[in-house]
Order: sequence, then structure tokens, then C-alpha cells
Amino acid sequence: MMTPEMLVKLALEAREHAYTPYSGFAVGAALLCADGTVYQGCNIENAAFGPTICAERVAVFKAVYDGKRDFAGLAVAGGRAGEAVTGLFPPCGVCRQVLREFCGLDFPLYLAKENGAFETHSLGELLPFSFSNADMS
Ligand code: THU
Repeated sequence: MMTPEMLVKLALEAREHAYTPYSGFAVGAALLCADGTVYQGCNIENAAFGPTICAERVAVFKAVYDGKRDFAGLAVAGGRAGEAVTGLFPPCGVCRQVLREFCGLDFPLYLAKENGAFETHSLGELLPFSFSNADMS
């Protein structure tokens, strides 16, 4: 069974795939699906800056492409490329909204700190009073 600790390790591993020639900031994500599979993502930057995509969305979009829409948790790790993670890294607002499309307010995010440690925060904590498909019915 995939534990949060293991998921954080996979997010740290995913950082090594990051393409960050502009910011030098490498982010990795590991998304656990309800069926037990894991999708990893990294940030991928672009010379035009705007097309840059975050690690979290790469993981979500890979999973959705494969037909997965039920998610159990997401680990995220960020820090200077080539260096170990030292502090907590909060996912950006766009990624929080993308998660909200598929995840409830109790969805857990495991935010990596130094030495494999992490903090757990719910999506509801990170994105309070959020807009979702439920608001369109
Ligand atoms: N980044 C992510 O991958 N995830 C986030 O939630 C915020 C920021 C990336 C984008 C860019 O490549 C670098 O971090 C600096 O903003």
C-alpha cells in the first residue's frame, strides 16, 4: 500500500525530471489514484515563460489522459534545482484550482520539507471558498 511517506519520496524523485533553465527551481509531484497507481510530474519551463507548466498539473493531466479521475492524495516537493529540498513548498493557485476539478475539499496534499519530512494540508485549507462544478448546477 502506498503511504504518504512513499508518495513524498516519489515527488522528490520526480524533481530530478524537471526542466528549469530559467528559474532553476525544480518541483516534483506524485499523485496517488484511488486504484493505487501513481502519476509523477515535474515542472517544464519555456523560453516564452507563459507556456511553463507546473509539476502538479503535469501529474494530474497525465492521470486524466489515462482515464483516472479519482485521486487519493498528492505529494509535492520544490526547491532549488540540484539541491535538496529545505522548506515547505506551497502549490500555486492554478494547480489548486485544477485539483479542485477532480478532488473534494478533504483531499490531502503532502508538502515536503527537509529530509523526507512533510506536512499534510487539505485542499479545502489551501483553496477555501472555492469554485467547482457543484457551483454550476
Ligand atoms: N512551479 C510548480 O511546478 N508548481 C507550483 O505550484 C508553482 C511553481 C514551478 C513553475 C516554474 O517552473 C517554477 O516553479 C518557478 O515558478
